[in-house]
Amino acid sequence: MIDHNTIQRIIDTAEIIEVVSDFVSLKKRGVNYLGLCPFHNEKTPSFTVSAAKGIYKCFGCGKGGNAVNFIMEHEHLGYPEALKYLARKYHIDVVEKELTAEEIQQQNERDSLLIVTKFANTYFQEKLHKHTDGRAIGLSYFKERGFRDEIIQKFELGFSLDIRDAFTKAALENGYKLEFLEKAGFTIVKEEEKYDRFRGRVMFPIHGLSGNVIGFGGRVLKKDEKTAKYLNSPESEIYHKSKVLYGMFQAKTVITQTDKCYLVEGYTDVISMHQSGIENVVASSGTSLTVDQIRLIKRFTPNVTIIYDGDAAGIKASIRGIDLVLEQGLNVRVLLLPDGEDPDSFAKSHSASELIDFINKNEEDFIKFKTRLLSKEAKNDPVKRASLITDIVRSISVIPDAITRTVYIKECSRILDIDEKILYSESNKIRKKSGETETKSISPDEVYKTASPSVPSFIEGYSAEHQEREIIRLLLHYGHDDLYTYQEDKYDEPRHVKVAEYIISEILNDDLEFKNLIYKQIFQEYLEGMAKKELPESKQFIYHTDPQISKLAADLLSPSYTLSKIFKKGGALIETEEMKLKQMVPETIVAYKRKILEIAQQDISDKLIEVQDKSLTNEEINTIQKEYMLITSAISAISKDRGWVVFK
Ligand code: CTP
Ligand code: MN
Repeated sequence: MIDHNTIQRIIDTAEIIEVVSDFVSLKKRGVNYLGLCPFHNEKTPSFTVSAAKGIYKCFGCGKGGNAVNFIMEHEHLGYPEALKYLARKYHIDVVEKELTAEEIQQQNERDSLLIVTKFANTYFQEKLHKHTDGRAIGLSYFKERGFRDEIIQKFELGFSLDIRDAFTKAALENGYKLEFLEKAGFTIVKEEEKYDRFRGRVMFPIHGLSGNVIGFGGRVLKKDEKTAKYLNSPESEIYHKSKVLYGMFQAKTVITQTDKCYLVEGYTDVISMHQSGIENVVASSGTSLTVDQIRLIKRFTPNVTIIYDGDAAGIKASIRGIDLVLEQGLNVRVLLLPDGEDPDSFAKSHSASELIDFINKNEEDFIKFKTRLLSKEAKNDPVKRASLITDIVRSISVIPDAITRTVYIKECSRILDIDEKILYSESNKIRKKSGETETKSISPDEVYKTASPSVPSFIEGYSAEHQEREIIRLLLHYGHDDLYTYQEDKYDEPRHVKVAEYIISEILNDDLEFKNLIYKQIFQEYLEGMAKKELPESKQFIYHTDPQISKLAADLLSPSYTLSKIFKKGGALIETEEMKLKQMVPETIVAYKRKILEIAQQDISDKLIEVQDKSLTNEEINTIQKEYMLITSAISAISKDRGWVVFK
């Protein structure tokens, strides 16, 4: 048990921003920090962290709480384990009595699995470094492969003896329960006999994001053996191989710093690249790349370079990987190594700087990659050429973001020398087709939200008084009303999203800020209420201590504003405002954004006119022109937007 004072110290010391940043890349937005929510899949960030209040809140999925809650939720830990995690992070001593074997068993299964896996990791490392066999067989194998001591330590490599049940015996002697040894995959029981799963193998521990060991890969050393080269931990409460990337724990900080992630195939590729000084590298080891793995990368960077073997299998895996990565909205580049080389062998036969040079010179975007790959044969064969074009357009079509698609279509048009218009129409055809199948899978009376198009991030500081006021009015009147039902995928429980939650997430997503200080204050109070899971009641504003706010609230809530009944041509009353919320709320948001965009556009076109008088550098002029283009395309996107798609 952890004593009360220690708990208090941990809570006082834990900085929410630091705690969350270990797992989510956060950007400062006003007083808060914003990032992609680690608890659900999203494309625009709605995960907000407030340093001042010490809380996080996701406006997409609703998860929220303090630093301890975050660790509990994210690492699937119990309350005491989350506290211990934070204590370790902040070097706070936790005075606690040793756990007995009985108490170990009482912990929930997950914790128990983590504990035996941690024991195994220490055990395998000790065998590698201390045991005669470990040194003679395991350590010398790593040395032969060129792994230096510090890299062996860093990746906590180990060795499992070639004895039937050496590990199982040691674990049982140390009080670990057979049940958990089996569940974590270390021990196999056959006809009352216990066997170690990993025997005579060098061991690669696989770490979760917070540094816990959650599984292992074990490699055989004898060459001509029938058993699989690598044996991996089985699926368990703590190890889901499709959601894990080998090396992510060691790579995540550098991935955030360099804003780039290299994706390779195997354990040894990751380790060798680290040894060559490239630390932003992860491997999908043992599975073909999954969507969950790509989402994991996306939490740290949108830029991925796939580095695979140049043989047929590597090419095939790269092609499959490209579309998966594009579909998740990431930028993908590809680097094929010469046939017969993998990153491990290549790193070994070249110096670190040669490796970096080679990567920088040879990585190419997916269009160049595919074109180069297929154009040799396609050059003089119109049928092959047509299918190459379709192939590339298909990849472009899976990209969720319209602007990125446009950029790639231009690139494709240039490289393949084909009219952009043709590529657009082809891409739209493909998108339309896949769109149709998507629509069908949504249940009949469900309302499905498409977020309104966003305002480019460089736009700030514009005021749209009238629209701001209308948004505040909606908040005060209907903040608590359900707006739509949100379902991440069809297996999830549908969640009711309230008008206030929708409005707040739309405003925060685009980093917009009300200019009128009274509106801004009201918005802020909704935001705080939402983080505490208690949206403010309109009374809070009517009786507000700030007389300007109470006056405004009274104004906006007065009956003259509420009764906008909508009449059919014949005059029969058909709908009240409440019934029209689904249309009105998104339209109001879109109107606000459009207004801001129009003012920004005016502002920039003024700048463009002034350009002639000022001595601006080409680069500055370029930036202004680019901004103008972005605003124009945002306006055209928003003008087309209906805010909602209602499926009937
Ligand atoms: N793999 C696996 N099971 C196998 C073979 C491979 O899980 N039977 C996974 C491992 O994660 C491995 C990766 O696939 O690291 C790539 O396989 P391969 O290229 O064959 O292995 P290398 O990592 O290159 O290992 P080595 O250089 O030691 O042969
Ligand atoms: Mn290899």
